[in-house]
Amino acid sequence: MSDVDAIVISAIEEFGRITDADELERVKARFLGKSGSLTALLKTLGTLAPDARREAGARINAAKDRIEAALDQRRDALANAALDARLAVEALDVSLPGRGRGLGGIHPVIRTWQRIESIFNSIGFDVADGPEIETDWYNFTALNNPENHPARSMQDTFYVEGSDAGGLPLLLRTHTSPMQVRYACQHQPPIKVIAPGRTYRVDSDATHSPMFHQVEGLWIDENVSFADLKGVYTDFLRKFFETDALQVRFRPSYFPFTEPSAEIDMMFASGPQKGRWLEISGAGQVHPAVVRNFGLDPERYIGFAFGSGLERLSMLRYGIDDLRLFFDGDLRFLQQFR
Ligand code: FA5
Ligand code: MG
Repeated sequence: MSDVDAIVISAIEEFGRITDADELERVKARFLGKSGSLTALLKTLGTLAPDARREAGARINAAKDRIEAALDQRRDALANAALDARLAVEALDVSLPGRGRGLGGIHPVIRTWQRIESIFNSIGFDVADGPEIETDWYNFTALNNPENHPARSMQDTFYVEGSDAGGLPLLLRTHTSPMQVRYACQHQPPIKVIAPGRTYRVDSDATHSPMFHQVEGLWIDENVSFADLKGVYTDFLRKFFETDALQVRFRPSYFPFTEPSAEIDMMFASGPQKGRWLEISGAGQVHPAVVRNFGLDPERYIGFAFGSGLERLSMLRYGIDDLRLFFDGDLRFLQQFR
């Protein structure tokens, strides 16, 4: 085998072993570079006789072509391998199912809240909002609930450390009734408002939870009577439940801030829940002492108030027998209301 063939074979072999593109360029120089082995052979041509020189020159050039072809082939192979490796690393498996975005829904109690607002709005009631951390004065005292009066213990609550600017103790409001006073002190009669919101008590069973929602209603004018309360509330229930087939009962009761006072119970006259009374609201004619706390003359102004449980209304509307389901956050339950 001639020197030239040996050089070609060793170049092809070496190129084949190399797996790195930069190294390939360095090894190329050993054959084709200025001091490469093929270049060294070319330099010896001058010492040959003209015929031999022509023949050797042609063989060396052919060898150079073969080496360059082998080099190109190896360059391509290495570039393809690099691309394959990158594709493998950056692979995107388009066959994986997407994660999806769960479709949210409105919580059933909030749905009730929205329905109540739109029904009372349609008969001219304003909608008001107030603080959940309330002063002892608005929550109890202004509502004719004197300090140390036993009626306070019916609504045991969570007291908050510290006091308001006037030094009054703070608590989580036990009902939305403080909104009667807040709103009436800032508006002139006729006063016609509802105030839905969160309320808190030390309570926990199938029909009581420590946090729940109420909606307060208040209508004060010169001649708003208990009969108006019965009419407005019964009409509200028929609209809310979209049926006239329900019975409403005003059961005598006691609240310090109303006189006379009643609990409003209701029962469906048909359907699967037929025949079961459930208390949904307290109500009554606003007590003269409270009207005075509104800054109004009780000899002139009179009206009614009610405070209803939104969970109770939701339980009846959807036929749910345990209100704790509303707060467990169980998607199997909540998805039924989407
Ligand atoms: C009151 O809270 C009075 N403020 C209502 C009122 C307003 C009377 C205006 C007169 C005039 P009572 O404690 O009964 O009353 O609660 C009213 C309603 O809230 C109940 O009928 C019930 O539907 C709901 N409720 C009371 N406690 C809870 C509780 N722990 N969990 C869920 N709902 C409750
Ligand atoms: Mg009650």
